Amino acid sequence: MSLLAIAQIGAPVLRERAREVTREELATPEFQQFIDDLIATMRDANGAGLAAIQVYNPVRVCAIEVGDNPRYPYKPKIPLTVLVNPVLTPLSAERFDNYEGCLSVPDLRGVVSRFAELHVAAWDRHGNAIDHEVRGITAGTFAHEVDHLDATLFIDRVTDPRTLCTWKEFTRHQETGFRGRVEQIVARWGS
Ligand code: NI
Repeated sequence: MSLLAIAQIGAPVLRERAREVTREELATPEFQQFIDDLIATMRDANGAGLAAIQVYNPVRVCAIEVGDNPRYPYKPKIPLTVLVNPVLTPLSAERFDNYEGCLSVPDLRGVVSRFAELHVAAWDRHGNAIDHEVRGITAGTFAHEVDHLDATLFIDRVTDPRTLCTWKEFTRHQETGFRGRVEQIVARWGS
């Protein structure tokens, strides 16, 4: 297991479209080791998710997990999920405002509008089909990670730049209000 370097905004790799993964390469020990390293790196950095392209490997793979996360103490929990070649499809037109941050965008958060209900089609790390639905804050987390595979960072989707803030100022001025909104989102969509 090794920890991988996380690309920071400005690194050209973050603006590439990640390529599809074949079943053959997914099955190799090298690729499985890479997925283990991706997960270890996400956990080490307290990320809610990490896309392969963020560790300089532009393939369509991302890991998502939310436990007791000090970066996002208000987020509903998500069990460890590895998505390979994911495709997200909105299940309705409903959206919500999500305060997001990113391991590739140091010390910045901002409000992004996300679909509230998504269908997720992907493979798991063993090539088995994933076919499920995610809602609310969890849907925002999935959309953020899959955006990375299409060269999109959350700041591209921030419609009001005045919502941008450092993590310290988020904690000082925004977190209490956003926690209240998260409670409403969780009450509405269950996650
Ligand atoms: Ni990110």
